[in-house]
Amino acid sequence: MAKKTIAAATLLSILSIPVMAQSPAPTTDELVSEARSKVKAFGGSLKQALQAAIKEGGLTNGIGVCNTVAPEIAASNSNEAWTISRTSLKVRNPDNAPTEWQKLQLLAMDKQPMKNGKPVEVWQVSEAAGQPPFQYMSAIPTQELCLGCHGKSIDPGVKAKLAELYPNDQATGFSAGDLRGAFVVTYQPSTK
Ligand code: HEC
Repeated sequence: MAKKTIAAATLLSILSIPVMAQSPAPTTDELVSEARSKVKAFGGSLKQALQAAIKEGGLTNGIGVCNTVAPEIAASNSNEAWTISRTSLKVRNPDNAPTEWQKLQLLAMDKQPMKNGKPVEVWQVSEAAGQPPFQYMSAIPTQELCLGCHGKSIDPGVKAKLAELYPNDQATGFSAGDLRGAFVVTYQPSTK
């Protein structure tokens, strides 16, 4: 019995080497295209949920979507290897604060959020400690829909609700076309 287990374990460990070699690491092109599709899925679901909530119960109702539904949609589009989130130079939620690398990209995007009619994107492949092996960002320009909660003149009721949830809110005062922030997608396959 014991012998059989060892034999099976040995067989597995021998097998796992060629199996690993058979699935080569994804190319940068493949990673970028996966990151783009994640941004599209996350951004699309979020905007839909936001519009539906505002239609149903106004902006104060929409705050709930951004407050609880956004992290849920982000989590459902993430898995062991992939994560998707949002960041900004002026965050509403301090949990969304950028890393050093992200901040540098945001500063560049802030000068030019769009290029050839598309949000600016950037990615990095890295072997440095503390950096994900692959990281992708895509600019989020401010749209009309965003101004009710991120613009210059915010309804007092909305303002009060935001102040209650986010005492350190920095994410107001934006105009349409300004860089509001960026989507961040990281890829970090488990090393097991
Ligand atoms: C109904 C109010 C509301 C509207 C409308 C709204 N947001 Fe937000 N936004 C929020 C709230 C609340 C948060 C904080 C979410 C959290 O806790 O992670 C937030 C966070 C964000 C963040 C993450 C960075 C940060 O500041 O913490 C980005 C990026 C963002 N919003 C972009 C947008 C864009 C782009 C639009 C328009 C398409 C938009 N928002 C419309 C309420 C709103």
